[in-house]
Amino acid sequence: MTEQSQLKKIKWGIIGLGGIANKFANDLLTIQDAELYAVASRTQEKADEFAEKYGASKAYASYEDLANDPDIDAVYIATPHALHKENALMCLENGIAVLGEKPFAMNAQDVDIMIAKAKEKNVLLMEALWTYFLPHYQYALTALKNKTFGHILKIESDFGFKRPYNTNERLFNKDVGGGSLLDIGIYPIFVSLSTLGMPNHIDANATFFENGTDASCDMTFDYNNLVKAYLKSSLKEILPTEAIFYCEKGTIKINREFHCPSTVTLISDGREETIDFGYDNHIFGYKYETIHFNKLLQEGKKESDIMTFDFSRNLIKLLDDVREIIGLNY
Ligand SMILES: NC(=O)c1ccc[n+]([C@@H]2O[C@H](COP(=O)([O-])OP(=O)(O)OC[C@H]3O[C@@H](n4cnc5c(N)ncnc54)[C@H](OP(=O)(O)O)[C@@H]3O)[C@@H](O)[C@H]2O)c1
Repeated sequence: MTEQSQLKKIKWGIIGLGGIANKFANDLLTIQDAELYAVASRTQEKADEFAEKYGASKAYASYEDLANDPDIDAVYIATPHALHKENALMCLENGIAVLGEKPFAMNAQDVDIMIAKAKEKNVLLMEALWTYFLPHYQYALTALKNKTFGHILKIESDFGFKRPYNTNERLFNKDVGGGSLLDIGIYPIFVSLSTLGMPNHIDANATFFENGTDASCDMTFDYNNLVKAYLKSSLKEILPTEAIFYCEKGTIKINREFHCPSTVTLISDGREETIDFGYDNHIFGYKYETIHFNKLLQEGKKESDIMTFDFSRNLIKLLDDVREIIGLNY
């Protein structure tokens, strides 16, 4: 028996069976000490279909039924943003550990409520910001922390694609938290927060669709007037979707698409080296956050040491701050 197979097998549930739930389930199947035990949809037919596709034992036609299953260890919340808080609270209330999709909730106040509930119930809670756990991102973080090329002078990071405006889609539906900032702008903000911390000053401006969701958002994070992070999200334009760190003696570039399994290029003294992390083509990259979460559960931990509560609080606070500047209300 390997060390991994001696560990308690974590019984997972998934709530909300859309696009990301499929990718998460695909990767979950590759993890030895995890089992996709139950799935929940708003309709029985969809739950049955999903359960059959990924081999889940239970298929629930309501999220509440899944949260009431006493055999579930952990739930992955994959519903639209506006439902994250209520779905998380329902699971935490029943003592089920929660891995909740980004953005963790709609605002900082709601994230605080979720964290307070997790603490009250003594249950593990973590935001599923998968990029933090990807080996290439961790590599770039370490290189920056070790000051391989000295201090960061400037960051450029963006995330953009072109999608026809359609309010039937979650991405554009204001009722469930649609718009570019909360959906994809969170990633460039994450890049800045995870490397430079909280900025001293933020400038931002946005363009909007007719229903008031933001189509694009340009942000500048100012760190002591010396270092700036230029960040952007867009649903109406294809952007490089890179994260570039200009440092004193060289540049560290996380290549397209930086938030997914990718490569890192180191540029210094006219030389370039691109590092390939040997990602498995059969997975999307969600297994890294899940393996971390499983380990926390197996060790009885209630908070991640990577995606900490403070980090999630700061991330949602930055989204709140940008929203206030651009006048985006939900
Ligand atoms: N980490 C990542 O890489 C990543 C990527 C994409 C999305 N996400 C996050 O994951 C969440 C879901 O995104 P997605 O792209 O998977 O969305 P999606 O394809 O629209 O799926 C969302 C699912 O939520 C459920 N749902 C419940 N109430 C709904 C409502 N009023 N409108 C629409 N769906 C509703 C539906 O499942 P049932 O019909 O089964 O109930 C739906 O299939 C978002 O918060 C997003 O930010 C993360």
